Amino acid sequence: MKILVTGCAGFIGANHIYYLLDNCKDDEVVGFDALTYAGNLETLETAIKSPRFRFVKGDITDRETVEKLFEKERFDVVINFAAESHVDRSIEDPSVFLRTNILGTQTLMDAARKYEVPRFHQVSTDEVYGDLPLDRPDLMFTETTPIHTSSPYSASKASADLLVQAYCRTYGFPATISRCSNNYGPYQFPEKLIPLMIANALADKPLPVYGEGLNVRDWLYVEDHCIAVDKVMRHGKIGEVYNIGGHNEMRNIDIVKLILEKLGKPESLITFVTDRKGHDMRYAIDPTKISEELGWLPSTAFADGIVKTIDWYLANKPWWERIISGEYAKYYEQMYGSR
Ligand code: NAD
Ligand code: TYD
Repeated sequence: MKILVTGCAGFIGANHIYYLLDNCKDDEVVGFDALTYAGNLETLETAIKSPRFRFVKGDITDRETVEKLFEKERFDVVINFAAESHVDRSIEDPSVFLRTNILGTQTLMDAARKYEVPRFHQVSTDEVYGDLPLDRPDLMFTETTPIHTSSPYSASKASADLLVQAYCRTYGFPATISRCSNNYGPYQFPEKLIPLMIANALADKPLPVYGEGLNVRDWLYVEDHCIAVDKVMRHGKIGEVYNIGGHNEMRNIDIVKLILEKLGKPESLITFVTDRKGHDMRYAIDPTKISEELGWLPSTAFADGIVKTIDWYLANKPWWERIISGEYAKYYEQMYGSR
């Protein structure tokens, strides 16, 4: 099959490229990415050497470029990872989130319809369900939990999901949607909790924990997400939503303490800072549907995944040091300077 992967130079998209190249030897992969601040071609250095991979730079909201690509390549599958993905940035400036996450998805779907792509997969997030209370550990997100968004990021992702479902119903568009919990692993941009805390701890800088650090996230090793997306893309039922998560709920403060312990750094580096506006309290995925219908189960336990992740950041310092010394330094000052 010829597969288009958008957002291929970001965290999960790049991991997905490596998953496909390593495990799906009959497939040819085209990666498409606008190389925003979050996209990094260095991440794809090894992939680019493969004769089964090609990179194309472009923006998913650019209709002309997208249509030309679809006309030329005649894809069998489109997997849309491309998005603006950071909640804090969406709170500062929602516009680009609406443009990329909603209109970009529409542009891709229109091209897929025009060139009759037989399969489209939309990578969504559990954040579309809003949050759960801390005192109801029995509650989890299922695929029928109502959409109830909190941030401009989650609202933009939910809007895209609704549009995908509308295209399925109205045009018989052959799409699936997956909604995954928080990912961690190699190549995650150091603005997100786990890599940010690793980078700050290694530099003996304060570790900024929002509020009291009691918010809960349900962490999944990125490769497990890629395996799940691959299963949904090949075997999921058209028009269906699949939740992805591995029952690994943890409080932010416990993650941060664990990272400090693994790196042999003192807890005195922890600094409690002003909470995120509208901060979701707890996410928890019920993955029954994907495990029963598609036989997916997570394969990496958090205890192993976090060690692999920390080791990766230790072994790949130039990758993230280049990021935090550039444009990102300005962002960090703006976001955390007066917090
Ligand atoms: P990321 O921010 O690391 O990467 C996003 C990539 O998309 C970047 O390479 C960027 O250059 C590219 N991009 C942005 N705007 C673009 C545009 N207009 N045209 C083309 N490319 C563009 O994000 P990520 O963490 O890898 O997330 C990938 C997808 O997975 C997103 O759709 C996100 O909503 C979803 N998701 C992420 C998580 C998580 O924990 N990171 C969890 C669930 C779902
Ligand atoms: P993040 O990695 O931004 O993912 P998301 O908001 O999509 O869940 O944040 C994970 C959690 O960590 C979230 O509850 C916010 C918190 N957090 C901090 O406490 N400090 C930080 O500097 C960051 C980036 C996040």
